[in-house]
Amino acid sequence: MRTTMLRERQKKRLYLLAAAVAVIVWYYYFYGYPWSGPDARSDNLNVIDPLEDDVEGLTFTKRQFFLNTKPFRILSGAMHYFRVPSEYWQDRMMKMKACGLNTLETYVSWNLHEPVPGKFNFTGMLNLRKYLELAHSEGLYVILRPGPYICSEWDFGGMPSWLLADQKMKVRSNYQGYQEAITRFFGYLLPQVTDLQFKRGGPIIAVQVENEFGSFSTEVNHLMFIKGLLRLHGIKELLVTSDGSEGLVRAPFYQDALPTVNFKDTEQGRTGFEVIKQENPDFPLMVMEFWTGWFDHWGQPHNTDDLSVYAERVATILDSGASINFYMFHGGTNFGFMAGANEFSHYKADVTSYDYDAPLTEAGDITEKYMKTRELILEKIYKPLGILQLPVVPANVPRVEYAKLRMAEMMTWKDLTSHIMKTGHSERPMPMEMYKFDSGLGQSYGYIIYRKQIGSGNWLELPGKVRDRAQVLLNTWSVTTFDSDSKKLEVQMHASQPNNLLEIVVENLGRVNFINHKAPDPDILNKQRKGLDGDVKIDGKFVTDWNALALDFDQEFLYKISRASEWKSFIPQKNSPTLYRAQMVIAGTPADTFLNMKDWKKGIVIVNGMNLGRYWEIGPQRTLYIPAPFLKSGMNEFLIFEEHASGEYLYFQKEPQLG
Ligand SMILES: *[C@@H]1O[C@H](CO)[C@@H](O)[C@H](O)[C@H]1NC(C)=O
Repeated sequence: MRTTMLRERQKKRLYLLAAAVAVIVWYYYFYGYPWSGPDARSDNLNVIDPLEDDVEGLTFTKRQFFLNTKPFRILSGAMHYFRVPSEYWQDRMMKMKACGLNTLETYVSWNLHEPVPGKFNFTGMLNLRKYLELAHSEGLYVILRPGPYICSEWDFGGMPSWLLADQKMKVRSNYQGYQEAITRFFGYLLPQVTDLQFKRGGPIIAVQVENEFGSFSTEVNHLMFIKGLLRLHGIKELLVTSDGSEGLVRAPFYQDALPTVNFKDTEQGRTGFEVIKQENPDFPLMVMEFWTGWFDHWGQPHNTDDLSVYAERVATILDSGASINFYMFHGGTNFGFMAGANEFSHYKADVTSYDYDAPLTEAGDITEKYMKTRELILEKIYKPLGILQLPVVPANVPRVEYAKLRMAEMMTWKDLTSHIMKTGHSERPMPMEMYKFDSGLGQSYGYIIYRKQIGSGNWLELPGKVRDRAQVLLNTWSVTTFDSDSKKLEVQMHASQPNNLLEIVVENLGRVNFINHKAPDPDILNKQRKGLDGDVKIDGKFVTDWNALALDFDQEFLYKISRASEWKSFIPQKNSPTLYRAQMVIAGTPADTFLNMKDWKKGIVIVNGMNLGRYWEIGPQRTLYIPAPFLKSGMNEFLIFEEHASGEYLYFQKEPQLG
């Protein structure tokens, strides 16, 4: 009796074991990983260029990805090196690994890499190679999205503004001037990364051609042109495109690159996946941008998602067998003047933080969203494979609340602007991109000052639009401020004295980074010139003969300002833009902190020469992130450029306030 029971039990166990093995084998055939899986050659690659190398990169057949012939499911997270201090890249990557991700996705920011035509910068936070090598050593594959247009809530979608010095520029097209610019950039960029491709022992498994092109244009030849450049420079990995479901249909490129879909709502996603399924029975499904949250505009509410809705979406995607890239996994910060903008009916500028309500916060903290994502990936992907644990979640980077800091000095508008070297002259005010300031180039970012010595005058009228916000100063005192929504750009100046200095200070709040063919003006990307364009009138008469000054707070300017002699003792100011300064002494190792700009109106903060970005009392964002690597032990210099009225103190806090 007993022995038969035992035997029965043993049998049962054997059956269970066999069933478990069968399930695991079946599972990993369909949801397999590079480190475990049967050899299976993908033989249906007619849509991809022939592969000649010994190692096979990312391939696919029957809706399944393979990496070097082994079944592979892409579990990727988006993080942009240009939005995260390089000292923190590794921390964020480790947090990706601990969440169960196997791939890192990044865009490339052309505008930062080529600030001046033909002059390239790939150092510091822009050291793309170092970033990719680090991903490799952390055990992450890479999806590289070099644009050249990247959207990304980044000024002009990552394109350099100097493109717009050409009046006839047609970006994102085969317009010759645009092709030449891309050819030069890709000719410099791609040779730096070719040896980091998977087939050559590196981490890059896929490269994207352009970005959401179909929603913008139907000029498929432009995609062909970019593909040609990628191949010419030795990119041999799988090429992909990414689009919303509508864009997929408008510019079909699936004969040349694997289509992927972008969405937030899984219902939208289904539509896109249906299109892809019909295009080819072999195409694996991938959501290239699963929007984990959303970005914010100045003057609008902060965006967050309900965690349970988010979790449901993630679960649906994981259950569907599709590959996924969490966009963003870690958003980071639009430091400096890099935030982009949108303009359908109204111009709306993006805020400085790119927290995005992503699984990792702007400062890289673990969130509930992160833990939920990790739990779902573990349950749905790893446990069925017999992997019961993920790497330990790394601790958050420590933060401190530094003592409030009182302003010590200030520099008046007159003194500040006397240090500007980039100056020009024109009959009528022109957009900043059109001037030939030093080295023959226009201005890219920041504020442009239109200056004119006038006699007496009363009514000032500006041309149709200001891009994007203009402050009118009379003898350095603020008369009024116009923004892009102002209906009538006219003001009474009351300049009764015979001699007056008129200055119109126009801030570029960020160039539009996204547009689609349904927009009121689908050509708006080519109209992203900033400042004033056209005639200014005083009392009905045209004013000609203007001086223009570029106040862009570039490194050279900051260096001069820091050593200038015109600093005076601080007294709170209003109604004239002013630069303020304070020194903060940090004993010991600096830590991350958040700067709260309550009591201040609008401007920028520069710490030790690093532009942290804009603050603005209209919110929703209240705090600016200061990563510890921007601070140092000992003396730290804080510069505040305030446009309207100063506060007295800077306040620090441990937690962000995003609205
Ligand atoms: C290159 O970019 C890095 C990172 O933004 C910056 O620190 C450095 O000053 C730049 N170099 C030049 C020559 O502009």
